[in-house]
Amino acid sequence: MKDMIISPAVEFYDVVTRTHSEGGDALRSVLAEVDPSAGPILDVGAGTGRTVQIIAEAVPGARIVAVEPDLVMRTVLTHRVVADDDLRSRVTILADDAQGMAIPETLSAVVLYGVVGMLDRDERARLWDRLLPRLAPGAPVVVELLPIEQPQTLPPMPYAKERIGEHLYEATLRGEPGEDDLMVLNTTWRITGEEGEVRTVHGTSQWHTFGLDDLARETGLTAERLTLQAGLLRASG
Ligand SMILES: C[S@@+](CC[C@H](N)C(=O)[O-])C[C@H]1O[C@@H](n2cnc3c(N)ncnc32)[C@H](O)[C@@H]1O
Repeated sequence: MKDMIISPAVEFYDVVTRTHSEGGDALRSVLAEVDPSAGPILDVGAGTGRTVQIIAEAVPGARIVAVEPDLVMRTVLTHRVVADDDLRSRVTILADDAQGMAIPETLSAVVLYGVVGMLDRDERARLWDRLLPRLAPGAPVVVELLPIEQPQTLPPMPYAKERIGEHLYEATLRGEPGEDDLMVLNTTWRITGEEGEVRTVHGTSQWHTFGLDDLARETGLTAERLTLQAGLLRASG
């Protein structure tokens, strides 16, 4: 497993996913058609379990394999799974990355939300080589990507806003081109209360840029855009 850079902004991950929920709705509607008897649903880069929860609700009875290499994210994931009788009976958690994970023999669906851009071209090629032969006929591969197809400068923009108790959490996102196909994304979280600023936290992450059509070319699957960020890849016919 590659060394992972832990961003200090990791604690705010679930604040972001509350603000940006369109991709979750798209995932729910694609998965509603899945036949779970074909095999488990694989959730790669399962994070804190947002997508695991959606899969479990959308496909009652499906077994779920949740792959999450980061200790902090996986701790929250395990907390969420163990606290719920239904999730605890259906979700298997693997502490691996996409490059090293064991893949079940046959998969009824694959969820790749917010994770494909963590992989460079060679890592993606190896992932497709291992994953595609395991897809049951017609199994969807549902992806959520950043809507950034080439490295570019992103001026600071509001990213998330949530009130928790007496504090307001507000994030600003800005980006700049990194090496080769990389974007460097910087978030600044300002937490304020009645008395003013409580604390400020800076986070950085990197994302290999490409588009949904690039993934269709890489995989040989047919792509359908679901939202600005979410897309569906599936074998045609
Ligand atoms: C943006 S989060 C998405 C979490 C979840 N899928 C969701 O949509 O809420 C990306 C996740 O991918 C994980 N990740 C990073 N590199 C990875 C890799 N090489 N293989 C698998 N997961 C990885 C991170 O630890 C993080 O939890």
